[in-house]
This record gives sequence, structure tokens and C-alpha cells, in this order.
Amino acid sequence: MAISQQVFLRDAMRRLNLTRDVFAARIGVKRRALDTWLLPEGSQEARAMPEVVARFVTEIVENSALMEKYAQSAQSGPLRDRIAAGGKHQLLSVDQFTRESVEELFRVADLMQPIARRRKVSRVLEGAVLGNLFFEASTRTRVSFGAAFCRLGGSVCDTTGFTFSSMAKGESIYDTSRVMGGYVDAMVIRHPEKGSVAEFAAATNIPVVNGGDGAGEHPSQALLDLYTILTEFSRLGKLLDGAHIVMAGDLKYGRTVHSLIKLLALYRGMKFTLVSPPGLEMPEYLLEQASRNGHVIEQTHDLATGLKGADVVYATRVQKERFAGENLEGYTADFQINRAIVDACCGPDTIVMHPLPRDSREGANDLSTDLNTDPRLAIFRQTDNGIPVRMAIFAVLMGVEGLVQHSLRDVTWAPPSHIGPDDSVFHGLD
Ligand code: CP
Repeated sequence: MAISQQVFLRDAMRRLNLTRDVFAARIGVKRRALDTWLLPEGSQEARAMPEVVARFVTEIVENSALMEKYAQSAQSGPLRDRIAAGGKHQLLSVDQFTRESVEELFRVADLMQPIARRRKVSRVLEGAVLGNLFFEASTRTRVSFGAAFCRLGGSVCDTTGFTFSSMAKGESIYDTSRVMGGYVDAMVIRHPEKGSVAEFAAATNIPVVNGGDGAGEHPSQALLDLYTILTEFSRLGKLLDGAHIVMAGDLKYGRTVHSLIKLLALYRGMKFTLVSPPGLEMPEYLLEQASRNGHVIEQTHDLATGLKGADVVYATRVQKERFAGENLEGYTADFQINRAIVDACCGPDTIVMHPLPRDSREGANDLSTDLNTDPRLAIFRQTDNGIPVRMAIFAVLMGVEGLVQHSLRDVTWAPPSHIGPDDSVFHGLD
């Protein structure tokens, strides 16, 4: 098998849209056996899947793919052409994706996991240079895009803030973008103005990725969020179709939720509960877009009511830096997502997410740190997933995803089995 057994099985379940239980029954094996085959190579409990099972799974997936092919005969060509924006290989909005293309991207992200988890190295982007242009504060997006590019063998040049860029001298977006295009092979841009990254993208033919444009979109964050939800659901034996997603917090200015609700709306029969303080509700145009496919959308200002029956609780920070006259310093104490309210309103399989950063200052009442040792808290599994997903974005936009599998070599160092002291036992083994 050219790809790892874990990637092969995860991809098969995703393509067939089956939970682990149903998939195990479909291929006639015990769920426990399937779980051991799904563990990463090298972990103590991992077992090799019998050849006959691999052949049977291949057969089922091929039959299903054939049916899909007939149903979607218009869909062909490389993924980067199918998700292109304005004919260019750029990632500006999640609107560029269909359910099929997003899941194809996640198959590439699965291939990247051994590199992201520091078991393998690859040099498929050797010689390529990334320009990271961040005109707004960032830790995760800037560093993880840079690390993702480096882990594919490329190198990174970056500039942060307006002060240290010539935009401080009045240089236009067009000139900046065209100049950078002559220096680097791809750009990731974060800018405080909605729509500005599209302006950068219009001025160059190299791949441009939107790292967050004001209160507009944050497509790579939404992609890694969806990837995390699907990975968590696979571990829990749940399907995303029909799930209940609660988004809580500043839904007016939180660009991550703007992108995420659009991606989740690609699935079937979703229920969205949107919980926000008065005045920070999700914009109307997004509600209209998300409700087009018949999803149920409920809005409330009461956190305890909203959390009931949630499969996913997605919390966001107050985006005070974008306020235009709103008078709010932080969330009120009754709006804080903490251990007590999660225990009271959610089940043992609910997952709690946040794009981070969370505001840990007193009085902010953002997502509480008292959930840090609770395995339902998925925030660091989420940030870890930023690497394989962002590697997949680069590989696809630069057309090298087909070279990754054969480029893998073992790492020469020994990373720790768990990165964080409070990581759950299954973190990294899902
Ligand atoms: N989630 C996110 O965009 O984090 P940063 O602002 O640190 O990049």
C-alpha cells in the first residue's frame, strides 16, 4: 500500500460517509480491530490490517467512486483548478469549496500528518520561498503557515505590521503585491480591511492565501476547524450530517465563524445555534447563505439555553479591535464557557473549540482555562491540525500534492509523544 493504512482507512470512511461502527460492520470486522488499524504506525497498540481487508475496502471505495464519477461527470482536473478563484490558484474564501473538494483537501492533509507529527520529513517545496505579510497581530496563522511551508522544504520571509513595511510610506496594495510577487513563490496575507486580500491577489499571479481580512473571512482557520470536527467525530463514531453546532460569542466581527458556518452548511441537515451578546449577532447575509440548504438556525442571547444538546461548542473572543461604537469590554460572567456550564448543559461527547487566542485577562470571561484538563476541550488538537491543513493548502495550490507520498523520509530526531502536559491520551493518535 503506497499510503499508510491509517490514511487509507480514514479516507475510505470519509468517502463512504460512514461512522467507525457502521464502517466496521460494512467490512465485517470488530470495531476494536478497526480502532487498532487506525492508530498511527509505530504506536504500541497499532496492528497491521490483513491484506484481504485492504482489498475488500479498496473494492467498496472504488465502486462508490465509480457511482460518484457518473453523478459528477463535470468534476475533473487537478484540485487547484477546481478551487481556483478568478482563474488563479489562490485561497481567498471558503466559497471556493464544495463538500467534495474540501474532503479532497483533507485527504491531502491526512497525508501530511506524519510530517506534522514529526515522524517524517519531505522536501517537495525545496527552493520555494513564502512571503508572510501580516499587517495585523497573529501568532498561530503566521507561524503555522511559515512552519507548514518549511516542513515541505521551503523557506519563509516575513514582514509584520504596517510600521516595518513601506505601506507606512503610502505604498499601495497593488505595488506591494506586485513587488512581493517578484521575490517569493507564494504569499499569505493578513490585513485589517475586509476585501483587501482579494486586492493583493488581483495584482499577482503567484498563489495568495487569505490569512484573515478584517471582519471578512479566515478560510484556512475554517478549514482546520472543519478538519478537526471531522477527526473528532470519527473518533467518537459520529457523522457530521445532522450535527448540532453551537457558535457562541462575538459572531458579528468574528471572521472565523463567518467562514466556518459557510463550510458546515455544505453538509446535510445541520442545526446551528448562534449565541451572542445583544448587538454582536451573526450578519444577516451569512444567516441567509447558511439557511439556503434547509439547515435549522436558532439565535439566542442565553448561553445555557443555547448549549443544550450541542455536538460542538465553538467559542470566540470579543473582537474589540473591530468595534464601531459597540460598548462592551468583555463577556459578562454568565456568558463564560467553563467547566460548570459544560458539565450542566453538554454531554460527554460534546467537543469544545475556539480559534484562539482566548482572552485570559481578568474580566474578559472568554473560554475558561478550567477546562484545560477536560478531554472535551479540543483547542490544542485544533491548533495542531493547523499544520497538516496549511501544508495541504500549499501543496494543492502549488501542484505538488502528488509528490508528497514518495518524498517521505524518517526524521532524525526523537520528538516527545505528547506535546502538551495536559494533552488527552488520544491526542495525536486519532
Ligand atoms: N486563530 C488565529 O487566527 O490566531 P492568530 O490571530 O494568532 O493568527
